[in-house]
Amino acid sequence: MLETLTKNLPESLVRVLTTPMDPDDYLELVNPLWSRHEIRARVADVVRETDEAVTLRLEPNRNWPGHRAGQHVQIGIEIDGVRQQRTFTVSAAPHEPLTLTIKRNGPGGVSDHVVRRLEPGTLVWLSEPAGEFHMPASVPDKLLMIAGGSGITPIRSMLTDLYRQGWQGDARLLYCNQNADATIFRRELEQLAADWPALKLDQLHADAGELLTPERLAQTVPDFAQRSAYLCGPGGLMQVVEDFYAQQGLEDRLHLERFQAPERGAPGEGGRVRFAASGGEAVGSGAESVLELAESRGLQPKHGCRMGICHTCTCRLESGRLRNLHNGEVFEAQGQPVRICVHAPEGEVELEL
Ligand SMILES: Cc1cc2nc3c(=O)[nH]c(=O)nc-3n(C[C@H](O)[C@H](O)[C@H](O)COP(=O)(O)OP(=O)(O)OC[C@H]3O[C@@H](n4cnc5c(N)ncnc54)[C@H](O)[C@@H]3O)c2cc1C
Ligand code: FES
Repeated sequence: MLETLTKNLPESLVRVLTTPMDPDDYLELVNPLWSRHEIRARVADVVRETDEAVTLRLEPNRNWPGHRAGQHVQIGIEIDGVRQQRTFTVSAAPHEPLTLTIKRNGPGGVSDHVVRRLEPGTLVWLSEPAGEFHMPASVPDKLLMIAGGSGITPIRSMLTDLYRQGWQGDARLLYCNQNADATIFRRELEQLAADWPALKLDQLHADAGELLTPERLAQTVPDFAQRSAYLCGPGGLMQVVEDFYAQQGLEDRLHLERFQAPERGAPGEGGRVRFAASGGEAVGSGAESVLELAESRGLQPKHGCRMGICHTCTCRLESGRLRNLHNGEVFEAQGQPVRICVHAPEGEVELEL
């Protein structure tokens, strides 16, 4: 009966009629951006950057706390009635209107939906900004930024912020893309380099055979060892630069942000995990994360990036040992918060979940 009555009503009104109300629900009825706690935003504009990338200009509600240049947020987008969550860097500098710049990552995912179908006016949810990939309080005099594809987003934010601050150091930007047409922010960055003597821009195009190799890096920026380096791009590009810096003994000079999880290492011995609060348990072979095991038992732990970056999935380890799925490290940290998306049980484990 109730189902028939509510069939043609908006979702927010149906919730009012069918579930106990939170004050936010009443506010949402008047204006979907009104919320006492949640950060919500309206997509004010969708700007096409390349065939495969768009910038979303967002108008957040007053709960948006502002960000540091280089930080990322999680965005929740309703797709076919299900709220999907992904992590994106704020491509704007802190003084600019809030933007996310999103490149399509093949068919079917959230980025595909955003780049092909998202319309201005859409309402989205945001997390607090987070992340350590930003300039230190005292900005080094010499910088080397290395970006590939959508990895330009945190670097665009940091450079634009430094420009606005009137920073007068010496920054080099090596920006790698397939070709000029696929280059996000190409004209803007060329203009910035033309207007600002502190920045020199070098663009490498894979279609022209210009891949970033250690030799090319050292040739293009001979004083790379004296620069603080900031790296963000596809896995292959990052591996080349990481290996080169490790070989040179310069790991400490290299700051990096990953958009994808590194490969998982060989599985450990596996084990059984008990979920203290919910009462269930699951047995893992050593290849699955605790998050995946919990989901396989029908639990819905909070999570964001699923790759150990955002800390949203953190919960307390009551007892037992966990194994890091990426570096294989096994540890026992009773009573400590752990990220369940990147750890597997090793033997008998209990979590507060
Ligand atoms: C710190 C950080 C900053 C980023 N910044 C940008 C940026 O500025 N621009 C940009 O284009 N991309 C950025 N990304 C990449 C972005 O988050 C997505 O991974 C990418 O857009 C592909 O997502 P997809 O849904 O289209 O693809 P999919 O192939 O569907 O998913 C890709 C990733 O999402 C994870 N995933 C799958 N299902 C779920 C789920 N239900 N909930 C949560 N995660 C799930 C997968 O483990 C996989 O790693 C960033 C990633 C990180 C970690
Ligand atoms: S979900 Fe982001 S750290 Fe686990």
